[in-house]
Amino acid sequence: MKFTAALFTAFGLLGASIAQTTPSGFAPAANVTLDVYYGTQYISPGIVVKKSITQKAPTIGLTGVTLSGKYLLAMIDIDGSQNGRTTTVLHALLQDYTPSTPPVLQNGTTVLTTKATTPSSYFGPAPPAGAPPTHRYVFLLHEQPANFAVPAAHRQAVQSRFAIDWVKFVADAGLKPPVAGNYLQVKSGDNTKRKMGWTA
Ligand SMILES: *[C@@H]1O[C@H](CO)[C@@H](O)[C@H](O)[C@H]1NC(C)=O
Ligand SMILES: *[C@@H]1O[C@H](CO)[C@@H](O)[C@H](O)[C@H]1NC(C)=O
Repeated sequence: MKFTAALFTAFGLLGASIAQTTPSGFAPAANVTLDVYYGTQYISPGIVVKKSITQKAPTIGLTGVTLSGKYLLAMIDIDGSQNGRTTTVLHALLQDYTPSTPPVLQNGTTVLTTKATTPSSYFGPAPPAGAPPTHRYVFLLHEQPANFAVPAAHRQAVQSRFAIDWVKFVADAGLKPPVAGNYLQVKSGDNTKRKMGWTA
């Protein structure tokens, strides 16, 4: 009996330590938390935040991971819509993230920064009123290969921001699985004034 209990405890702990940090059902999945801060607001995976705090690109980084080379950040609304159909909307695809030397720490996070506004600049969440009740915005951090470029098959999606298929993008761009991920949610119809040609 004791043995069984110990086993369950061990599996329970194991389960907790590998909790997925990307939304259930989303691929590619990540089990490592990408630290994301909007100002002083720390984003724990799945947290619902106000649209108004998300309108400037967040500070990102990793805790307890040795960083080297360059990184690529994607932020994707997986509850977007276009012409009444659910689709993904690319909110950012930013390259050349690196740690500073010496590293800059925020709350134990080794901060990664970039000066790049390409391939796709950051724009904050602005989910329209209506279903679903919240939009999920997924963050994925990948190592950036030396010869990174947006693959031809994805240029249109990156430019229009609609219908990016991240699994295919990863394969076509020769990326490895994400180093880390995270996601936040914003309530649909959260009302601030930003107007875009798309709603997401
Ligand atoms: C995350 O953990 C699950 C459960 O152990 C595992 O199946 C999956 O392969 C892991 N995913 C990644 C990206 O490491
Ligand atoms: C610091 O990071 C931890 C997770 O590592 C988080 O739970 C906490 O909210 C963060 N605190 C601040 C002030 O950012």
